[in-house]
Amino acid sequence: MIIAIDGPAASGKSSTGALVARHFGLVHVDSGALYRAITWVALTFGLDDATGIIAAAESLPITLERHDGDLVVRSAGQPIDEAIRDAAVTAHVSAVSALPAIRDWANRLLRDGARREGGAVVDGRDIGTVVFPEAALKVFLTATPAARAKRRLLQRGTMVEQAELWRETALLAERDHRDSTRAVAPLRPADDAIVLDTTALDLASQVARIIDLARDRGLSAP
Ligand code: CDP
Repeated sequence: MIIAIDGPAASGKSSTGALVARHFGLVHVDSGALYRAITWVALTFGLDDATGIIAAAESLPITLERHDGDLVVRSAGQPIDEAIRDAAVTAHVSAVSALPAIRDWANRLLRDGARREGGAVVDGRDIGTVVFPEAALKVFLTATPAARAKRRLLQRGTMVEQAELWRETALLAERDHRDSTRAVAPLRPADDAIVLDTTALDLASQVARIIDLARDRGLSAP
């Protein structure tokens, strides 16, 4: 049983996905964290070819492990959540994620993890189109770039000043452009995805909307 939640940067996929997963007793997986982790490996070891990056990730190893209601990314068994949110990782993650062998590596971990758990709510860019095309429900979250930039700054606890908001909006737009125009698994809604514009929705409303959609497809809470 898979629920796929895709969408551009800072569209609220992870916070929404985690709450939807709790409701249905499913595990939540943030696939972006895997791409961030392997980008962190590339930067830490100064690697730029996919084969070398994957070999380094496998020898650490980078894994997806169960922690409370989530499958979280670990490096050598240790949490690396803080390191992977770093600005340098954010600046390089789109380029690393565009490499086909890197995507195969991530997809294998995602599919193995979901199979082990007997289902999952997975968020990302290509979950409904490539990773789990058979998902029971596919949602594509959108919001204006300015709304997304504001949420990201608030999430970081930064003061939302106009200049900072413009800068963050430009960075998000640039990353979305790279993610949408790459040759392999570009960011786009699946043909059968429900597109949900969250610009004017709060977290509780968007979660409720997705829970309703999942119920319509026969999913029930435990
Ligand atoms: O949290 P945020 O929206 O900033 O991004 P993320 O979900 O952490 O994803 C970081 C980056 O990983 C994206 O900009 C994509 O380049 C890549 N990614 C991907 O290619 N495919 C996915 N399924 C998830 C993320």
